[in-house]
Amino acid sequence: MTRNSWFESVAIAQRRAKKRLPKSVYKALIAGSEKGVSYVDNLTAFSELGFAPHVAGLSAKREMSTTVMGQDISLPVLISPTGVQAVHPEGEVAVARAAAARGTAMGLSSFASRTLEDVVEANPQTFFQMYWMGDRDYTARRMERAKSGGAKGIIVTLDWSFSMGRDWGSPTIPEMMNLKAMLRLAPEVITRPSWLFDFAKSGSIPDLTAPNLDDPQNETPAPTFFGAYGQWMQTPPPTWDDIAWMRQQWDGPFMLKGISRVDDALRAAEIGVSAISVSNHGGNNLDTTPAPIRMLPSIVDAVGDDVEVLLDGGIRRGSDVVKALALGARAVMIGRAYLWGLAANGQAGVENVLDVIRGGMDSALLGLGHSTIHDLSPDDVVIPPGFTRELGVPARHK
Ligand SMILES: Cc1cc2nc3c(=O)[nH]c(=O)nc-3n(C[C@H](O)[C@H](O)[C@H](O)COP(=O)(O)O)c2cc1C
Repeated sequence: MTRNSWFESVAIAQRRAKKRLPKSVYKALIAGSEKGVSYVDNLTAFSELGFAPHVAGLSAKREMSTTVMGQDISLPVLISPTGVQAVHPEGEVAVARAAAARGTAMGLSSFASRTLEDVVEANPQTFFQMYWMGDRDYTARRMERAKSGGAKGIIVTLDWSFSMGRDWGSPTIPEMMNLKAMLRLAPEVITRPSWLFDFAKSGSIPDLTAPNLDDPQNETPAPTFFGAYGQWMQTPPPTWDDIAWMRQQWDGPFMLKGISRVDDALRAAEIGVSAISVSNHGGNNLDTTPAPIRMLPSIVDAVGDDVEVLLDGGIRRGSDVVKALALGARAVMIGRAYLWGLAANGQAGVENVLDVIRGGMDSALLGLGHSTIHDLSPDDVVIPPGFTRELGVPARHK
């Protein structure tokens, strides 16, 4: 009898991923930072919000399509860029195919294990994610490469402050996958035969390089994940002038990811970004930064007419998406939810996650009596007193 690999919730996909992945790989996906306060808040904040449903006069059809950064997508859920390796042999290409099959766009991390070109072939609706690394010349070359590789837009992620140390310990990740590293990881890998079998079948091992970070000017091999991370750590952090310069260099859709404060959202709007994502990097960065859903309403209020406001962090079900849209997000991006799907069942697992989310959105829209996501409003949700956080609101906006 073949095991039914379909799952009905993201929580079940996560449990399967935990069983299937070597411990270090699973821990790398859980990630988090310091005490894990933001990681937990991202999830609990959605549970604090309730719904205000109707019982009759509901709509027989529910419409979910929208546009984000110039791309028509069939549901307001995009793939957030994640720089993770070794989850599945097809990695980001499997994710891109799944997103394309379900009609949505893909954010590809700079630290991804597959090339932009391969991912664009699998899903032409791909945005390339960049960090501020190296000097302006190197950055310009990488943006040119993103353009020639077919990226439809770029996502510049700014919320990273190299926080180190987790109270539950960090995974052991080797610098590169050589014999020595494989022997060291053997005891945890040997207990995960299906993961090992998938890689064996594909004839590859996780190589832990970052192929999108090679410098188009020098014909050097792609840097290792940690080599590139080291270069990034040594780069002085960008100024707003640097970001404005980057925006000028890129003549297409441009998102700033990682905004928490109203004053930063206003600066982003001033430099002419197309979109922002209200985000705390999935709780992986500066711990105790509040959940993005708490910060969303004040940011939408300040810049919602000028830029597309997205949210990422803590989305695990369709009802979470509906709550975010009701509080003003145009769309959301998901991170761990699709990583659990990828780990559990490859491309089909990511499609499964998107289907679960779509199904949950459909139920919520039905209950709330809406025929389209565009009719959602704060009136649809129960917001407990003290739920929201308004960070950095300039006096003129109060
Ligand atoms: C393991 C892992 C790796 C990530 N790597 C990146 C990255 O390379 N670039 C980036 O912009 N965000 C990265 N993120 C953050 C995600 O894009 C997104 O902000 C976050 O996962 C959203 O929270 P969620 O996982 O609760 O959906 C990463 C997140 C995780 C969990």
